[in-house]
Amino acid sequence: MSMIPDDKVREVRERAPILQVISDYMSLKKSGANYQGMCPFHGEKTASFNVNPARGIFHCFGCGVGGNAFDFVMRIEGLSFPQAVKFLAKRVGVEIPERPLTREEKRKVDEQEQAYRINELACEFYRGVLESDEAGAAGRAYLEKRGVSPEIAAVYRMGFAPAGWDSLTRYLQRKGIAAADAEKLGLLRKREGKDGYYDTFRNRLLFTIADLHGRPIGFGGRVMDDALPKYINSPESIIYRKSEVLFGVDLAKKGMREKGSAIVVEGYFDHLALYKAGFTNVVATCGTALTQPHVKLLRRYADRTFMLFDGDEAGRKATVRSMELFLEEAFPARVVEVPSGDDPDTFINREGGEAFQPLLDKALPIFESFYKGLLKRLDVRSVEGKVAFVNEVSPRLQKIVDPVERGLYEKEICRALGIDRAMLLKKVGIPARQAPRPPQKGAPQKIGTEEVLLTLMVKYPEVVSKVREHGADKLFSASHLKLAESILAQPEDGELDLPLLLEQIESHEERSRLYSLFVEDAHLEDLDPVKAFEQCRQALERRALKGDGKALARELATVDPDSPRYLEILAELERLRNKKSKLL
Ligand code: UTP
Ligand code: MN
Repeated sequence: MSMIPDDKVREVRERAPILQVISDYMSLKKSGANYQGMCPFHGEKTASFNVNPARGIFHCFGCGVGGNAFDFVMRIEGLSFPQAVKFLAKRVGVEIPERPLTREEKRKVDEQEQAYRINELACEFYRGVLESDEAGAAGRAYLEKRGVSPEIAAVYRMGFAPAGWDSLTRYLQRKGIAAADAEKLGLLRKREGKDGYYDTFRNRLLFTIADLHGRPIGFGGRVMDDALPKYINSPESIIYRKSEVLFGVDLAKKGMREKGSAIVVEGYFDHLALYKAGFTNVVATCGTALTQPHVKLLRRYADRTFMLFDGDEAGRKATVRSMELFLEEAFPARVVEVPSGDDPDTFINREGGEAFQPLLDKALPIFESFYKGLLKRLDVRSVEGKVAFVNEVSPRLQKIVDPVERGLYEKEICRALGIDRAMLLKKVGIPARQAPRPPQKGAPQKIGTEEVLLTLMVKYPEVVSKVREHGADKLFSASHLKLAESILAQPEDGELDLPLLLEQIESHEERSRLYSLFVEDAHLEDLDPVKAFEQCRQALERRALKGDGKALARELATVDPDSPRYLEILAELERLRNKKSKLL
């Protein structure tokens, strides 16, 4: 729900040239049409970060990030798109009028504001109790026992819920808060069969769950003995969606950006232990399964993740479940193993923070850790064990997006099992989804014909006319057609607004791929554009014919030789052969 009018976004884009925006953060040197520098998003010794001011885009050939000025600000400042627009608007003096809210939107914003206010009040109340109230003595003693200093407790805004039934209920009443509003946030509960409310959290140590900006959106309360449940957590509410929130993300934003990685743990105390030990890039799932929005959130700050779950069966299962997400999202993840029976908190408290770094260094890529774990648990010398192994592994193998990575794992697994690749592939089949390979350092990526044609269109207006003449749908497949058509839709005399066009591309990988193609195209400088177009066209048509021919040949094999269709197919194949010979 961006409430910024499009023309304002355009105005900001025009007034905040990319070179100026990025120069505020790093030094850039001119090199040909581009400016180059050390990438601020990953550690490097040679400058692979490129800015193309004429086109308004940047790309790093080292780590693959790229985009326009907004993307740069989103990434480096950790902002959402509307936030980045507002951030730049302020710098370049563009006033952004907020569109007046509809009545429904206004009601929702008011309700959200009230929810934040109530949680803030509750948080202050609980903090006061923990810090200095007599009713908080048990909490202070417990913290001391767990080795948590008052300073750390303050950083986490920890609190204590007194043992009585209505301390918070009465406090909120004094502050003029309607009990029904606090009930919606799970702070109070309705008394059964009677009037009135009572406190949800009683005699518990409280963790404040905060959003990205540090505003309290919920609480997690731990008992101070072995009673069950160990934790009570706030329910979901208008400001707390568990599938989108990671505990401690407000504290970890900076660390994740600086280190380029995130560490994901299970529990509140695990978070605390790592943070205290200097691993400030840590977030916790806190009892919920990792979700796709979680992974997308991590991606905003980091380019890889360390999964650090408890060394027990539940931790292992949760790791396997999250693996499928990481594979589908093509987000690199490694698994850190803590000794069986430990969690990160117990490990660090016993062994010290220095003992933790070696665990990180030893972490295996999540898929490797998964299948090696399986190899240990199943007896793959037997046929039964082999079958069980293949059944477990193949659906996950299929989720690896990068074909090279998948191929290498297939090879390794076959070697370990002593079966041949064809057998494994019977189970794995053709992957459902193919995404472009992630950028690889050093080795230039293979560029497809359609992509070459797109870069030609961006560079040469003649090629745009040629493509229009010929029909974009005849040249491009679905993955590039939309972009090609948007280029065609731009006014013929005007300059291409590339950042705007690329903003429409939803796939993260695809977008960054295109940025890398468009940011540096000096190699296309001395081409004859029309001739280059012809070469692309022929290659693409050849490919299309080949596809048609394959489909026909397949059909031919299934059709009765006496049927009229059989002759039709033969004739069609002959026509294709003719066409193809003319192309060559
Ligand atoms: P753990 O049982 O591992 O707790 O659950 P912990 O964080 O290590 O706590 P300590 O160190 O024993 O005191 C991991 C996380 O799962 C959620 C909590 O977020 C917890 O931090 N959880 C666990 C619940 O929400 N409810 C529960 O009853 C138990
Ligand atoms: Mn634990």
